[in-house]
Amino acid sequence: MCGIVGYSGPGNSVGPIIEGLSRLEYRGYDSAGICLKIDNQLQIIKKEGKLDNLKFLIEEQKPFSHTGIGHTRWATHGAVTSDNAHPHGNELFAVVHNGIIENASSLKKELQSEGFQFKSQTDSEVFLVLLTKFFKQSNDVLKSISKAFSTITGNSAFVIIEKASDKLYCLKRSAPLVVGENKEKREAFVSSDPFALVGFAPRIYFPQDEVICESVISPVEVKINFYELDLSPSNRYKFQTNAMTLDATTKGPYEHFMLKEIHEQPKLINKLAAYYIKNEGRKILDDLRNFEAPFWHLTACGTAWHAGLVIKNFFEQINRQRSSVEIASEFRYKNPIIKKEEVGLFISQSGETADTLACQELCAQKGISSFSIVNVEGSTLFRNSNKNFLIHAGVEIGVASTKAFTLQVLTGYLMSRAMEGSLDDADLFKEIQLLSTRIEELCAGGDKIKEVAEKIYYNKGFIFTGRGKYFPISLEGALKLKEIAYVHAEGYAAGELKHGPIALIDEDIVNIAIVGPELFEKTVSNVEEVKARRGKIVVIGPRNSEELRHLSDFYIELDFEGLPNLSPLLVNVALQFLAYHIAFLKGTDIDKPRNLAKSVTVE
Ligand code: M6R
Repeated sequence: MCGIVGYSGPGNSVGPIIEGLSRLEYRGYDSAGICLKIDNQLQIIKKEGKLDNLKFLIEEQKPFSHTGIGHTRWATHGAVTSDNAHPHGNELFAVVHNGIIENASSLKKELQSEGFQFKSQTDSEVFLVLLTKFFKQSNDVLKSISKAFSTITGNSAFVIIEKASDKLYCLKRSAPLVVGENKEKREAFVSSDPFALVGFAPRIYFPQDEVICESVISPVEVKINFYELDLSPSNRYKFQTNAMTLDATTKGPYEHFMLKEIHEQPKLINKLAAYYIKNEGRKILDDLRNFEAPFWHLTACGTAWHAGLVIKNFFEQINRQRSSVEIASEFRYKNPIIKKEEVGLFISQSGETADTLACQELCAQKGISSFSIVNVEGSTLFRNSNKNFLIHAGVEIGVASTKAFTLQVLTGYLMSRAMEGSLDDADLFKEIQLLSTRIEELCAGGDKIKEVAEKIYYNKGFIFTGRGKYFPISLEGALKLKEIAYVHAEGYAAGELKHGPIALIDEDIVNIAIVGPELFEKTVSNVEEVKARRGKIVVIGPRNSEELRHLSDFYIELDFEGLPNLSPLLVNVALQFLAYHIAFLKGTDIDKPRNLAKSVTVE
């Protein structure tokens, strides 16, 4: 979603801001802008569409500025126009914003009745106008920031620059924001993601909610000051050196990041298993030995929710522990029954998904422990959870999540085996290595799936079906396809078809039927029902089945042997390839599909 980058220092701010925004492009946006302090004026350049449009304008003007802020906007309030793009500025201040001001509309009316004018339809401009109003009353920037922030409701992050100084100010409430520092070069940075600052800021600060950060560049040093909203000094921030590298920003030999990330999975699977079974991660899992919760509340969104559904299956079947998996945006508002000793398990690649964070906060308020399965170390979810199970996927750039899903499920599986006390079973490590090998084989022989894609990509709709542990995979397969190929796709439990969805079946609909070795005959009968109604059938099933070969129009054969628990992940990779090839044939923007953001930081 919205990306933020700010710079202040002796160099030209344009370079790091544009480079930072480019690195955040993958998160999704629809306009971009920059505000530069030049000759004691705040100069704003902004444009709807891709960052290249903004770069083009900047190229023409070749500005030089020691202080600036940049933003990529994912529209919430107000259409995608240059006026609504950030930064928003006036004769005193410029601001960029990520999040939603929930009481914006009533505040705007109030401010308009007081004579204040607005140039955009955004909620963000309300903050700028409030800040300006309070500054005119107090002539004190910090006080005005604090007062404006205390007046608004909702979760937001703001970065502010002013005409009168080269300071960067920022603060946030349940939205990602980091402050960076390069002491040697006397430079200060702000961003919504430390990834934007790799190579620029070796030192990173993570301010907590409602802490105002002020960067001051003097002729001898760079200093970051932290204040509470009452303007007393604050120590509510964490410090970390920025250990991220830029490897993830290149596609290597692959045409898309999504394809690269699919191919990374075999290695990452082996690495994760070694980390949690044999190396440093073992201690983290050993703490789970014999752990039993009366109930697990699993919450997540999108693909991470699907991972939760697979993990629930492990907790139930391997540990016989009770759990529910709820969509975070539902759980947070349903007044859930949460009792002491129960545990919240939050699954998120980014660790910044607004709804998932709200569930974590809710569980924390109810006094229960928060566990997370998360990719981004240092993310808000990571920092707010009592125990973190990192999935070590590296940066995932493709908006359509692939490797994160696989590693979320694998981490959940390892947690389950740790609770069972079976981490040392020789079979466990072998099973995971086998999964990695089978996925590697699938990656090497991807052409078969491409050929299937060529035969079906023009079809009107796709119904993915599966039973038991493959049901969540049918949901995930359908989500992947609709996200990147913009085609109607739904996932169903195979046994559910005849309770409604079968009405959709005709020769224009494709049934992607996952047929596992379990409940084989029953699942085959479900496929027969589709075939009888002239639907096109792609079966993903166990190798060498004459029955499946005969039944299907296209048969993607996989080796399920030796993967009693992990075969859903193998099937899922086949579906990742299928979605990728269909999208490729349709010519969509695979890595940055329309309307989507990588990290959904607003609800
Ligand atoms: O960062 P998170 O894992 O919390 O993100 C959750 C969803 O927004 C995410 O999985 C989304 O569904 C992806 N676009 C799926 O490919």
